[in-house]
Amino acid sequence: MSNKPRILVARAIFPDIVDLLRQHFEVEDNPDDILWNPAELAARLADKDGAFTTGSQRIDAALMAAAPRLRVVANMAVGYNNFDVEAMSAAGVQGTNAPDVLTETTADFGFALLMATARRITESEHYLRAGRWTEWRYDLFAGADIHGSTLGIIGMGRIGQGIARRGAHGFGMQVLYHNRSRLAPELEARCKARYLGKQELLRTADHVVLVLPYTPEARHLIAAAELALMKPTATLVNIARGGIVDDAALAAALRERRIAAAGLDVFEGEPRVHPDLLTLPNVVLTPHIASSTVPTRRAMARLAADNLIAFFDGRGPLTPVNT
Ligand code: DGY
Repeated sequence: MSNKPRILVARAIFPDIVDLLRQHFEVEDNPDDILWNPAELAARLADKDGAFTTGSQRIDAALMAAAPRLRVVANMAVGYNNFDVEAMSAAGVQGTNAPDVLTETTADFGFALLMATARRITESEHYLRAGRWTEWRYDLFAGADIHGSTLGIIGMGRIGQGIARRGAHGFGMQVLYHNRSRLAPELEARCKARYLGKQELLRTADHVVLVLPYTPEARHLIAAAELALMKPTATLVNIARGGIVDDAALAAALRERRIAAAGLDVFEGEPRVHPDLLTLPNVVLTPHIASSTVPTRRAMARLAADNLIAFFDGRGPLTPVNT
Protein backbone atom coordinates (compact mmCIF):
# COMPACT_ATOMS: atom_id res chain seq x y z
CA MET A 1 0.00 0.00 0.00
CA SER A 2 1.48 3.39 -1.01
CA ASN A 3 1.53 6.29 1.40
CA LYS A 4 0.03 8.69 -1.13
CA PRO A 5 -3.10 10.52 0.03
CA ARG A 6 -6.32 8.77 -0.93
CA ILE A 7 -8.75 10.67 -3.11
CA LEU A 8 -12.31 9.97 -4.19
CA VAL A 9 -13.39 11.36 -7.56
CA ALA A 10 -17.13 11.37 -7.02
CA ARG A 11 -18.29 11.76 -10.66
CA ALA A 12 -16.93 10.77 -14.05
CA ILE A 13 -14.50 13.40 -15.34
CA PHE A 14 -11.98 13.71 -18.18
CA PRO A 15 -9.82 10.52 -18.07
CA ASP A 16 -6.57 12.45 -18.44
CA ILE A 17 -7.42 14.51 -15.35
CA VAL A 18 -7.95 11.25 -13.44
CA ASP A 19 -4.53 10.13 -14.77
CA LEU A 20 -3.01 13.36 -13.49
CA LEU A 21 -4.55 12.76 -10.07
CA ARG A 22 -3.17 9.20 -10.09
CA GLN A 23 0.36 10.63 -10.37
CA HIS A 24 -0.16 12.24 -6.96
CA PHE A 25 -2.77 10.16 -5.15
CA GLU A 26 -4.37 6.77 -4.65
CA VAL A 27 -7.54 7.41 -6.61
CA GLU A 28 -10.95 5.77 -6.46
CA ASP A 29 -12.87 7.15 -9.41
CA ASN A 30 -16.35 6.71 -10.80
CA PRO A 31 -15.95 6.12 -14.57
CA ASP A 32 -19.52 4.82 -14.89
CA ASP A 33 -20.76 8.07 -13.32
CA ILE A 34 -23.01 6.39 -10.77
CA LEU A 35 -24.96 8.89 -8.69
CA TRP A 36 -24.11 7.64 -5.20
CA ASN A 37 -26.62 8.42 -2.51
CA PRO A 38 -25.30 10.09 0.69
CA ALA A 39 -24.78 6.73 2.46
CA GLU A 40 -22.83 5.31 -0.49
CA LEU A 41 -20.78 8.48 -0.75
CA ALA A 42 -20.05 8.37 3.00
CA ALA A 43 -18.96 4.72 2.78
CA ARG A 44 -16.53 5.56 -0.03
CA LEU A 45 -15.14 8.56 1.83
CA ALA A 46 -14.55 6.62 5.06
CA ASP A 47 -10.87 5.99 4.18
CA LYS A 48 -10.23 9.04 1.97
CA ASP A 49 -8.10 12.11 2.63
CA GLY A 50 -9.62 14.22 -0.11
CA ALA A 51 -12.48 14.38 -2.58
CA PHE A 52 -13.15 15.79 -6.03
CA THR A 53 -16.83 16.73 -6.22
CA THR A 54 -19.33 18.45 -8.46
CA GLY A 55 -22.40 20.33 -7.30
CA SER A 56 -24.29 17.05 -6.96
CA GLN A 57 -22.60 15.83 -3.75
CA ARG A 58 -23.73 17.37 -0.49
CA ILE A 59 -20.82 17.81 1.94
CA ASP A 60 -22.29 18.26 5.41
CA ALA A 61 -21.66 17.38 9.05
CA ALA A 62 -23.18 13.89 8.76
CA LEU A 63 -20.98 13.03 5.82
CA MET A 64 -17.84 14.37 7.49
CA ALA A 65 -18.60 12.40 10.65
CA ALA A 66 -18.36 9.28 8.48
CA ALA A 67 -15.12 10.48 6.86
CA PRO A 68 -12.66 11.07 9.72
CA ARG A 69 -9.58 11.38 7.48
CA LEU A 70 -11.13 13.89 5.10
CA ARG A 71 -9.09 17.11 4.84
CA VAL A 72 -10.06 18.73 1.56
CA VAL A 73 -12.95 18.75 -0.91
CA ALA A 74 -12.42 20.33 -4.34
CA ASN A 75 -15.62 21.30 -6.15
CA MET A 76 -15.58 21.42 -9.93
CA ALA A 77 -17.92 24.43 -9.92
CA VAL A 78 -17.76 28.08 -8.99
CA GLY A 79 -20.92 27.69 -6.89
CA TYR A 80 -20.55 25.67 -3.71
CA ASN A 81 -24.00 25.65 -2.17
CA ASN A 82 -23.56 21.86 -1.94
CA PHE A 83 -21.00 22.58 0.83
CA ASP A 84 -22.02 23.27 4.42
CA VAL A 85 -19.06 25.63 4.74
CA GLU A 86 -19.58 26.21 8.46
CA ALA A 87 -19.62 22.49 9.19
CA MET A 88 -16.56 22.00 7.00
CA SER A 89 -14.64 24.71 8.84
CA ALA A 90 -15.72 23.24 12.19
CA ALA A 91 -14.45 19.83 11.08
CA GLY A 92 -11.21 21.32 9.74
CA VAL A 93 -12.05 20.37 6.16
CA GLN A 94 -10.82 22.71 3.45
CA GLY A 95 -13.24 23.43 0.61
CA THR A 96 -12.24 24.82 -2.78
CA ASN A 97 -14.23 25.91 -5.84
CA ALA A 98 -13.43 26.65 -9.49
CA PRO A 99 -13.91 30.36 -10.14
CA ASP A 100 -12.74 32.56 -13.04
CA VAL A 101 -12.11 29.82 -15.60
CA LEU A 102 -15.83 29.69 -16.46
CA THR A 103 -16.70 33.39 -16.30
CA GLU A 104 -16.76 34.30 -20.00
CA THR A 105 -18.27 30.98 -21.13
CA THR A 106 -21.08 31.30 -18.60
CA ALA A 107 -21.69 34.93 -19.55
CA ASP A 108 -21.88 33.84 -23.22
CA PHE A 109 -24.52 31.29 -22.29
CA GLY A 110 -26.50 33.78 -20.21
CA PHE A 111 -26.64 35.98 -23.25
CA ALA A 112 -27.52 33.07 -25.55
CA LEU A 113 -30.38 32.08 -23.26
CA LEU A 114 -31.59 35.67 -23.11
CA MET A 115 -31.60 35.89 -26.90
CA ALA A 116 -33.29 32.50 -27.35
CA THR A 117 -35.95 33.55 -24.85
CA ALA A 118 -36.62 37.06 -26.14
CA ARG A 119 -36.58 35.98 -29.80
CA ARG A 120 -38.57 32.77 -29.18
CA ILE A 121 -36.00 30.61 -30.93
CA THR A 122 -36.79 27.20 -29.44
CA GLU A 123 -40.55 27.75 -29.55
CA SER A 124 -40.37 28.61 -33.25
CA GLU A 125 -38.07 25.68 -33.98
CA HIS A 126 -40.54 23.25 -32.38
CA TYR A 127 -43.30 24.77 -34.53
CA LEU A 128 -41.25 24.29 -37.68
CA ARG A 129 -40.20 20.72 -36.82
CA ALA A 130 -43.83 19.85 -36.12
CA GLY A 131 -44.63 20.75 -39.74
CA ARG A 132 -46.87 23.63 -38.72
CA TRP A 133 -45.14 26.33 -40.78
CA THR A 134 -47.30 27.05 -43.81
CA GLU A 135 -46.37 30.62 -44.75
CA TRP A 136 -44.84 33.94 -43.67
CA ARG A 137 -47.05 35.96 -41.36
CA TYR A 138 -46.57 39.49 -40.01
CA ASP A 139 -46.57 38.45 -36.36
CA LEU A 140 -45.07 34.99 -36.59
CA PHE A 141 -43.14 34.49 -33.33
CA ALA A 142 -42.80 38.23 -32.86
CA GLY A 143 -40.68 38.62 -29.75
CA ALA A 144 -38.90 41.35 -27.84
CA ASP A 145 -35.91 43.38 -29.00
CA ILE A 146 -32.58 42.93 -27.31
CA HIS A 147 -30.59 45.80 -28.83
CA GLY A 148 -31.41 49.11 -27.22
CA SER A 149 -33.52 47.52 -24.49
CA THR A 150 -32.97 47.65 -20.73
CA LEU A 151 -31.11 44.78 -19.13
CA GLY A 152 -31.46 44.18 -15.39
CA ILE A 153 -28.83 41.96 -13.77
CA ILE A 154 -29.28 40.63 -10.26
CA GLY A 155 -25.93 39.45 -8.91
CA MET A 156 -23.03 41.50 -10.23
CA GLY A 157 -20.08 39.22 -9.63
CA ARG A 158 -17.67 38.27 -12.40
CA ILE A 159 -20.31 36.54 -14.54
CA GLY A 160 -22.85 39.33 -14.04
CA GLN A 161 -20.24 41.85 -15.13
CA GLY A 162 -19.50 39.74 -18.21
CA ILE A 163 -23.18 39.81 -19.16
CA ALA A 164 -23.32 43.56 -18.52
CA ARG A 165 -20.35 44.18 -20.84
CA ARG A 166 -21.93 42.07 -23.57
CA GLY A 167 -25.21 43.93 -23.24
CA ALA A 168 -23.79 47.45 -23.03
CA HIS A 169 -20.96 47.21 -25.55
CA GLY A 170 -22.35 44.59 -27.93
CA PHE A 171 -26.05 45.41 -28.02
CA GLY A 172 -26.32 49.01 -26.88
CA MET A 173 -28.45 47.98 -23.89
CA GLN A 174 -28.96 50.15 -20.87
CA VAL A 175 -27.66 48.07 -18.01
CA LEU A 176 -29.10 48.16 -14.50
CA TYR A 177 -27.84 45.95 -11.74
CA HIS A 178 -28.66 44.97 -8.20
CA ASN A 179 -26.13 43.37 -5.91
CA ARG A 180 -25.37 42.94 -2.21
CA SER A 181 -22.92 45.81 -2.57
CA ARG A 182 -22.29 48.44 -5.21
CA LEU A 183 -19.40 48.00 -7.60
CA ALA A 184 -16.46 50.39 -7.50
CA PRO A 185 -17.11 53.37 -9.82
CA GLU A 186 -14.49 52.22 -12.35
CA LEU A 187 -16.15 48.79 -12.61
CA GLU A 188 -19.58 50.41 -13.03
CA ALA A 189 -18.08 52.53 -15.80
CA ARG A 190 -16.47 49.52 -17.52
CA CYS A 191 -19.82 47.68 -17.50
CA LYS A 192 -21.79 50.89 -18.23
CA ALA A 193 -24.06 49.70 -15.42
CA ARG A 194 -26.24 51.65 -13.02
CA TYR A 195 -27.07 50.39 -9.53
CA LEU A 196 -30.76 50.14 -8.62
CA GLY A 197 -32.85 48.63 -5.81
CA LYS A 198 -34.26 45.21 -6.64
CA GLN A 199 -37.88 46.33 -6.92
CA GLU A 200 -37.06 49.29 -9.13
CA LEU A 201 -34.91 47.07 -11.34
CA LEU A 202 -37.73 44.53 -11.72
CA ARG A 203 -40.18 47.30 -12.64
CA THR A 204 -37.85 48.90 -15.19
CA ALA A 205 -35.97 46.12 -16.99
CA ASP A 206 -37.07 44.56 -20.27
CA HIS A 207 -34.89 41.54 -19.57
CA VAL A 208 -33.89 40.34 -16.10
CA VAL A 209 -30.95 37.97 -15.70
CA LEU A 210 -30.19 36.23 -12.38
CA VAL A 211 -26.52 35.50 -11.72
CA LEU A 212 -26.26 35.60 -7.92
CA PRO A 213 -24.88 32.81 -5.72
CA TYR A 214 -27.36 30.64 -3.83
CA THR A 215 -27.64 31.40 -0.13
CA PRO A 216 -30.57 30.64 2.20
CA GLU A 217 -31.54 34.36 1.96
CA ALA A 218 -31.68 34.09 -1.85
CA ARG A 219 -34.32 31.33 -1.75
CA HIS A 220 -37.39 32.48 -3.69
CA LEU A 221 -35.87 35.91 -4.22
CA ILE A 222 -38.09 35.92 -7.30
CA ALA A 223 -41.56 34.75 -6.30
CA ALA A 224 -45.12 35.86 -7.09
CA ALA A 225 -44.71 39.38 -5.63
CA GLU A 226 -41.52 40.06 -7.57
CA LEU A 227 -42.92 38.62 -10.81
CA ALA A 228 -45.91 40.93 -10.37
CA LEU A 229 -43.55 43.92 -10.51
CA MET A 230 -42.17 42.96 -13.92
CA LYS A 231 -43.52 44.30 -17.20
CA PRO A 232 -45.90 41.98 -19.06
CA THR A 233 -43.47 42.15 -21.99
CA ALA A 234 -40.43 41.29 -19.86
CA THR A 235 -38.31 38.14 -19.88
CA LEU A 236 -36.56 36.44 -16.98
CA VAL A 237 -33.39 34.35 -17.30
CA ASN A 238 -31.97 32.21 -14.48
CA ILE A 239 -28.43 30.87 -14.87
CA ALA A 240 -27.71 31.17 -11.13
CA ARG A 241 -29.20 28.37 -9.05
CA GLY A 242 -32.51 26.61 -8.76
CA GLY A 243 -34.50 27.72 -5.75
CA ILE A 244 -33.70 31.41 -6.29
CA VAL A 245 -36.87 31.48 -8.39
CA ASP A 246 -40.13 30.03 -7.10
CA ASP A 247 -40.71 27.79 -10.13
CA ALA A 248 -44.42 27.23 -9.37
CA ALA A 249 -45.04 30.99 -9.19
CA LEU A 250 -43.03 31.49 -12.37
CA ALA A 251 -45.03 28.84 -14.22
CA ALA A 252 -48.27 30.59 -13.16
CA ALA A 253 -46.95 33.98 -14.31
CA LEU A 254 -45.89 32.53 -17.67
CA ARG A 255 -49.16 30.69 -18.16
CA GLU A 256 -51.17 33.83 -17.45
CA ARG A 257 -48.77 35.93 -19.57
CA ARG A 258 -48.02 38.20 -16.63
CA ILE A 259 -44.48 38.15 -18.01
CA ALA A 260 -43.69 37.27 -21.62
CA ALA A 261 -41.13 34.51 -21.35
CA ALA A 262 -38.39 32.89 -19.30
CA GLY A 263 -35.13 31.06 -19.94
CA LEU A 264 -34.05 28.62 -17.26
CA ASP A 265 -30.81 26.66 -16.97
CA VAL A 266 -31.32 25.75 -13.30
CA PHE A 267 -34.32 24.44 -11.36
CA GLU A 268 -35.57 23.90 -7.84
CA GLY A 269 -34.77 20.25 -7.03
CA GLU A 270 -33.02 19.66 -10.36
CA PRO A 271 -32.72 17.44 -12.34
CA ARG A 272 -36.47 17.39 -11.68
CA VAL A 273 -38.26 20.21 -13.47
CA HIS A 274 -41.58 21.61 -12.29
CA PRO A 275 -44.13 19.78 -14.50
CA ASP A 276 -46.02 22.99 -15.33
CA LEU A 277 -42.88 24.48 -16.89
CA LEU A 278 -42.61 21.51 -19.23
CA THR A 279 -46.03 22.24 -20.70
CA LEU A 280 -45.50 25.95 -21.41
CA PRO A 281 -44.39 27.26 -24.81
CA ASN A 282 -42.94 30.53 -23.52
CA VAL A 283 -40.06 29.09 -21.52
CA VAL A 284 -36.69 27.90 -22.81
CA LEU A 285 -35.36 25.04 -20.68
CA THR A 286 -31.75 23.82 -20.63
CA PRO A 287 -30.13 21.22 -18.32
CA HIS A 288 -27.64 23.29 -16.25
CA ILE A 289 -25.12 23.70 -19.07
CA ALA A 290 -24.13 27.36 -18.79
CA SER A 291 -20.45 26.52 -18.26
CA SER A 292 -20.47 23.56 -20.61
CA THR A 293 -17.96 24.06 -23.36
CA VAL A 294 -15.19 21.51 -23.77
CA PRO A 295 -12.34 23.95 -22.95
CA THR A 296 -14.15 25.41 -19.94
CA ARG A 297 -15.22 22.11 -18.43
CA ARG A 298 -11.62 20.92 -18.87
CA ALA A 299 -10.32 24.08 -17.17
CA MET A 300 -12.77 23.61 -14.28
CA ALA A 301 -11.71 19.98 -13.80
CA ARG A 302 -8.05 20.93 -14.01
CA LEU A 303 -8.46 23.67 -11.42
CA ALA A 304 -10.22 21.29 -9.03
CA ALA A 305 -7.40 18.75 -9.52
CA ASP A 306 -4.74 21.45 -9.06
CA ASN A 307 -6.43 22.50 -5.82
CA LEU A 308 -6.05 18.96 -4.46
CA ILE A 309 -2.44 18.72 -5.63
CA ALA A 310 -1.50 22.13 -4.18
CA PHE A 311 -3.25 21.35 -0.89
CA PHE A 312 -1.43 18.06 -0.34
CA ASP A 313 1.99 19.25 -1.49
CA GLY A 314 1.82 21.98 1.16
CA ARG A 315 1.35 25.03 -1.10
CA GLY A 316 -2.17 25.49 0.22
CA PRO A 317 -5.39 25.57 -1.80
CA LEU A 318 -5.45 27.79 -4.90
CA THR A 319 -9.09 28.88 -4.63
CA PRO A 320 -10.29 28.25 -1.07
CA VAL A 321 -13.87 28.88 0.02
CA ASN A 322 -13.10 28.62 3.73
CA THR A 323 -9.87 29.29 5.56
C1 DGY B 1 -20.99 26.26 -11.32
O1 DGY B 1 -19.80 26.27 -11.65
O2 DGY B 1 -21.38 26.67 -10.23
C2 DGY B 1 -21.94 25.71 -12.31
O3 DGY B 1 -23.25 25.94 -11.97
C3 DGY B 1 -21.66 24.24 -12.49
O4 DGY B 1 -21.61 23.99 -13.83
